[in-house]
Amino acid sequence: MLNQNEMLHINKEGWNKVADQFFAGSFDTLGYGSYAPTEEQLNLLGDIKDRVVLEVGCGSGHTLEYLAKRGARELWGVDMSSKQIETAQEVVSPLNTPVTLIESPMEDIPGLPMNYFDIALSVYALGWTVDLPKTLHTIYNSLKSGGVFVFSWEHPIHSVVEYNNEQLQFRRSYVAEGSERHDSWRGTPIIMHNRKISTFINALITTGFIIDQVVEDSCVADDDSVSPAKWYSGTKARLIPSTLIIQCHKPR
Ligand SMILES: C[S@@+](CC[C@H](N)C(=O)[O-])C[C@H]1O[C@@H](n2cnc3c(N)ncnc32)[C@H](O)[C@@H]1O
Repeated sequence: MLNQNEMLHINKEGWNKVADQFFAGSFDTLGYGSYAPTEEQLNLLGDIKDRVVLEVGCGSGHTLEYLAKRGARELWGVDMSSKQIETAQEVVSPLNTPVTLIESPMEDIPGLPMNYFDIALSVYALGWTVDLPKTLHTIYNSLKSGGVFVFSWEHPIHSVVEYNNEQLQFRRSYVAEGSERHDSWRGTPIIMHNRKISTFINALITTGFIIDQVVEDSCVADDDSVSPAKWYSGTKARLIPSTLIIQCHKPR
C-alpha cells in the first residue's frame, strides 16, 4: 500500500511524461470536459471581469489565458507537474494580467493566500488529489467569503463503465472506493482514485461549502461518429454523462 507522498511522486513523474498530450486547448471557450456543456452555456463562474481567480491543476495554462481574456484582475495557477508549469509560464507570459504560478501538489499549496480569491476553478484535476478533504480545505481557506468554487471531473459512473464486445459493461464496482494503480496509463504508471459522486458532495458539505448546482448533462451532436470503443464517445455520453460539474460557494 503506497502512502500519499509515494502516490504524489508517481503521479508527478507520470504527468511530466504525458504533459505533451495535454498541451492543446481552446482560448475562446472554457470546456469542462468531453461532451460536457461549456462555461458559455452554463455561466457557473459569473462575471470574470476584475475577479481574482485561482485555478487548481492549471495544466498548460490555457484556462488561465481564457480567464485573462475575459478581464480577470489577477490569476493564480497551481499544478504539481513541472512540465505543465513550464508550458503554462510560456502561455501566460504575453498576457497583461498578473499571473502567479505555483508548482505544488494541490493538497497543500505553500504561499497560497487565505481569504483572497473571488473564484476558484478546477477542470478535470480535482479527482487526482490523494486527499480530497485536505485539498477542499485548502481551496476553501483561500476563498473570500462568498467566493465561488467550480470544478469538473470525469463522472464517477462513466469511469466504471467501458465498451466491450459491443456492449457497455461495468469494469469495476462503483461503490468500492480507493486508489487504483494503472501501470500503463498513456504509457506511464499512474495512481487514480475511485470516488463516488456522494463522496465529492459530502466532502464539499463537510468542508463548509454551500452547493449551488450539480451538472450531469451530456452534449452530443446528432452526427457524432466517435467509435463507442473510445473511452469518450457519443454513444456512451448519451447513456451516462461523461463529466460531473459542481458549483458551490463559501458562505458569507
Ligand atoms: C487532466 S489535466 C487538466 C489540466 C487543465 N485543468 C486542463 O483543463 O487542461 C490534470 C492536471 O492535474 C495535475 N495534477 C494531478 N495531480 C495533482 C495534484 N495532486 N496536485 C496538483 N496538480 C495535480 C496534472 O499535473 C495535470 O496538469
